[in-house]
Amino acid sequence: MAILEANNIKAGYGETEILHGVYIKVNKGEIVSIIGPNGAGKSTLIKTIFGILKPTKGKIILDDQDITGLNPDKIVRAGMCYVPQTENVFPSLTVEENLEMGAFIRNDDCRDRIKEIYEIFPDLKQKRRQRVGKLSGGQSQMVAMGRALMLDPKVLLLDEPSASLAPNLVEMIFEKIVEINKSGVAILIVEQNARVALKLSDRGYILAMGRNRFEDTGEALLNNEEVGKLYLGG
Ligand SMILES: Nc1ncnc2c1ncn2[C@@H]1O[C@H](COP(=O)(O)OP(=O)(O)OP(=O)(O)O)[C@@H](O)[C@H]1O
Ligand SMILES: [Mg+2]
Repeated sequence: MAILEANNIKAGYGETEILHGVYIKVNKGEIVSIIGPNGAGKSTLIKTIFGILKPTKGKIILDDQDITGLNPDKIVRAGMCYVPQTENVFPSLTVEENLEMGAFIRNDDCRDRIKEIYEIFPDLKQKRRQRVGKLSGGQSQMVAMGRALMLDPKVLLLDEPSASLAPNLVEMIFEKIVEINKSGVAILIVEQNARVALKLSDRGYILAMGRNRFEDTGEALLNNEEVGKLYLGG
């Protein structure tokens, strides 16, 4: 059963069309990866799904609700949160202040949710009074994910969460992603570490030049010779 579905999406910047009719689906409980070369349109697709860019064509459905053309604040309320590829934290604020910022539309006391976030990311609890700008790349990425989780989303969009992290931290971030998924959040993730991402993904899509190229289970994509040669570095 689909929790998120985008169909025939056309979008771009100004006159330049980048996505030429892309589709993607995330079922309840799934981790789904979007893989593809630099400039393929992966971030553009995520930004369009989250309402930062408006599609010129196509339809986006979140949990049976048509969210096409809605602004991000409405989409957050509909149950989807997004961690951008860059500049995804407030460096001058502390860890806990960053988490509080993530709860901006909650009217209730967000203490309980912060506690749950610290259970997923125990390292952050220790650093709660530190400015995020002083943290390591891995810790900062955990803050960004924790902030997006403050609103208890049904779907989490992650754009390259492991970019520029050391290999052991890449693994740690992916372990966290699996843990978040097990807590009941469907996850759509864009990744350059394609093999690692596909290994833990239920399904994956390969995007190239703004079009769908391959779509299969994570395992089948990893075992697909053509995909390996063209998109996974051999
Ligand atoms: N703000 C923008 N204005 C104009 N063109 C843009 C903008 N952002 C991206 N593009 C262009 O859109 C195309 C797709 O970019 P996008 O960032 O979606 O690719 P990507 O698949 O996420 O790549 P990467 O792996 O490098 O993150 C590229 O040709 C890029 O130059
Ligand atoms: Mg990108």
